[in-house]
Amino acid sequence: MKHLLKLMDLSYKEILEILNLADQLKYEKKYGIEHHYLKGKTLGMIFQKSSTRTRVSFEVGMYDLGGSALFLSSRDLQIGRGEPIEDTARVLSRYLDGIMIRTYDQEEVEKLAKYGDIPIINGLTDYAHPCQVLADLMTIREHKGSVRGRKLCFIGDGNNMANSLIVGGIKMGMSVAIGCPKGYEPDAEIMKWASENGEFLCTDDIFEAAKDADVVYTDVWASMGEEAEAEERKKIFAGFQVNAELMAVAKKDAMVLHCLPAHRGEEITADVLEAHAAEIFDEAENRLHAQKAVMVMCMRNKG
Ligand code: CP
Ligand code: NVA
Repeated sequence: MKHLLKLMDLSYKEILEILNLADQLKYEKKYGIEHHYLKGKTLGMIFQKSSTRTRVSFEVGMYDLGGSALFLSSRDLQIGRGEPIEDTARVLSRYLDGIMIRTYDQEEVEKLAKYGDIPIINGLTDYAHPCQVLADLMTIREHKGSVRGRKLCFIGDGNNMANSLIVGGIKMGMSVAIGCPKGYEPDAEIMKWASENGEFLCTDDIFEAAKDADVVYTDVWASMGEEAEAEERKKIFAGFQVNAELMAVAKKDAMVLHCLPAHRGEEITADVLEAHAAEIFDEAENRLHAQKAVMVMCMRNKG
């Protein structure tokens, strides 16, 4: 695996390998077993959007692996003043051993990989959030023992999270159901692929989507970059909330996941979030372990 640009690029076997290595790294960290697989390596972290989890987990992850990380805000980089991504990629490839980028356009991440010659990791675009979904799959496996055959339901906007959950879920043999308002469906090509490659449903009936689900997932109604639409979206998404009434149709032992940050009283009620806090904060923790696995697989010296 050279890069992590989107989950569609990975095979079932590669995802499984990441999840297994993530489990191993979690165990090693817990018992203080040193794992400096990236000793002396440097990761550049380009952020064009805010972040708590991604920034901290990548930085700590590099430290755990014996390397170091550089926080590069687009406000300070020349990218913010219009330097092309093609040039940035070639320059940064001369200094760094890998780049994690959080930006708007998926095309920018793909371009970095095309023009640079170091591993590129997608830390969220408007289209995808692959690192989050690897942590999600790890958390589901940890709590449920397996992912294959489980039903994953996502309630809310057909955004980057929905897109990546569909791809990750279907690739790992889950049944995936999306409950979203009409006009806010996930990416059309991803939905077509999902229907052809697994058990997939997209409906505006959230009770149908959540019926017998093993995992109920939600995310904010207005993503980063959509702040201007936030008020309008509150009205459109009002019926698309994960609450006790919805959880009553899922399996009795269903998990609830949320990539965070959460807006209590909007996409999820405070009582449901708190009842499932153990799962949701394990999920946040697992960002660290899953991303360390990704970095090891992309950045470790080959051979
Ligand atoms: N879930 C997630 O990516 O969180 P941050 O935006 O805080 O990085
Ligand atoms: N859909 C959200 C995810 C945040 C982790 C956003 O893009 O803002």
